[in-house]
Amino acid sequence: MCGIFGIVKEKEENLGPILIGAAERLTYRGYDSVGMATISGDKIDLRKDVGKVDTVAEKFNISEMSGQRGITQLRWATFGAPSQVNAQPHLDSDGLMVGAHNGNVVNNIELRQQFIEEGLTVRSENDGETCVHAVERYLKRGYEIIDAIRLAYGDLAGDYAFVLGQANDDKLYAMKKGSGLVVGIGDDFTCLSSDLPSLLPLTREIIRPQDGEIIILSHDQVELRSVTDGKIIQRESEIITESMDAVQKGGYPHFMLKEIHEQPQVARELHHLLDDSSELDSIVDKMRNARNLYLIGCGTSYHACISGSVALAQIAGRAAIPVLAPQFISQFAPTVNHEDVGIFVSQSGETKDVLNALAAAEVKGMTPFGIANVIGSTLTQFTNSCLPLGCGYEISVPATKTFTNQVFIFLYLAHKMAGRDLDELAGIPVLMEKTLAMVAPQVEELASTLENVDDMYTLGYGATFPIALEGALKLKEITYAHCEGMLSTEFKHGPLSAVTENYPIIFVAGKEDIPLIISGINEVTARGARAIVIGPDDERLRANADDLIVIPDAEEQISALLAVLPLQILSYHMSVARGVDPDFPRNLSKTLTVD
Ligand code: AGP
Repeated sequence: MCGIFGIVKEKEENLGPILIGAAERLTYRGYDSVGMATISGDKIDLRKDVGKVDTVAEKFNISEMSGQRGITQLRWATFGAPSQVNAQPHLDSDGLMVGAHNGNVVNNIELRQQFIEEGLTVRSENDGETCVHAVERYLKRGYEIIDAIRLAYGDLAGDYAFVLGQANDDKLYAMKKGSGLVVGIGDDFTCLSSDLPSLLPLTREIIRPQDGEIIILSHDQVELRSVTDGKIIQRESEIITESMDAVQKGGYPHFMLKEIHEQPQVARELHHLLDDSSELDSIVDKMRNARNLYLIGCGTSYHACISGSVALAQIAGRAAIPVLAPQFISQFAPTVNHEDVGIFVSQSGETKDVLNALAAAEVKGMTPFGIANVIGSTLTQFTNSCLPLGCGYEISVPATKTFTNQVFIFLYLAHKMAGRDLDELAGIPVLMEKTLAMVAPQVEELASTLENVDDMYTLGYGATFPIALEGALKLKEITYAHCEGMLSTEFKHGPLSAVTENYPIIFVAGKEDIPLIISGINEVTARGARAIVIGPDDERLRANADDLIVIPDAEEQISALLAVLPLQILSYHMSVARGVDPDFPRNLSKTLTVD
């Protein structure tokens, strides 16, 4: 998740420290490269590289940069590897305009090709540069800057926010389409940023532009215009009174809750990214023709592998073996060869257990693909192709939005392999929003009744089996209670003996499996257990469950994906009620780089 910042002053000043400060406040979003540009009169000064803000700032003497306008950008690689040339901001062909974006321009590759054919100078693979040329092409055809931006907006598909400035001008221009952008108004300057926290040390007077708006910043004025007709839009500024900490968490008390609520949006963005991926066809082809197909990960990522295996079997009729990464080495590596394909799944792309399995697979000549959130991580460098999760930085140790996007990718791959309409997945973000709204108050209430429970089970079947495992992992990870996830039909083969009066058992019910789940419910309620069910609104479930958490009606695989949301919310509230910090549970770390 990249970050942009821009500032406009009345006249040339030393802007370096302001740009460094803004960049540092954006670092929490995650980044691999950083760049700054200042503009004064006919001069544009651009300095950028791969690395941390302080390293790049020192290397290029950024603190001495001066200008009447300044732009900084932190890049989290999606299009193009982390490198100096791909770092942002970017110049136009003639070095007369400079710009940077955050988000993803999903038709980047096609547009770059068009620009090359039109004779523009394309220097990088990065889609931020594409935004600059998208405006430049219309300036070269004689359009005024605002009209050029409006036309560029129509050409640039995806979700992004974009800022640019020209030489021999005194303004910055920006546009917003699906990614965050906030404008700040100071005493003698205006500024903008991808998020509110990075503006707050400069000013507390802000304006929130909406998608489809162009923002024109002068040092003493902010103008908003509609991208559709170019007309001026009136919007009152507001004064922010909340603390910095509250603002960084987006108004939520913890990053985990913020990240839970980000899931619909990141799923939406991922869908656009996948629709435009040039690598998917060959990945799916290799998966289809593999002798054996392995899905390999640890923890939450392993649960996504099981979901993927169920989806590939049920939707595309393709067998895939989900494997815990260390077990792959002992159980499967001795048998694999060049006819096999492995998909290595990891949020961080740095999990040592996963990298060890990757190394073992490579020795045997297996074709490795990856799915990772952190682009530029080891996994992305050592797999043949690595699909991005596109979640931005996940701060809380418990994985939430990266899990749902991992499952989303597998659903997408399964649909593609089956030749099914990929628009069938377009409803997922809205269903997620609906689920969050439907379940949140009831689950919070439920958490208060389970606050002192130290032992429980989550049970699922078929597509909901990995969801039960994931729910159990979330619960134990941040509540410190024991919770075991298992196949519902296995419960009678041993764990049933643990059941006593009021013993909580959470069933995740798919609509196809209701009769089977009801047998499971009665097996445990007959022995005094409290059966909490997450599932569709169904009379049979209502009649048999002690508590029914209803999720929206959806196709089997999608319904399973939705069912993880109440489990995330439940673990969050139980964690808080038990006095645990859900973002940073004891003994755990976000990235496990040890054996
Ligand atoms: C999930 O909530 C955990 N923090 C953990 O299980 C995690 O999924 C696991 O360590 C794997 O990490 P990765 O996805 O970065 O490889």
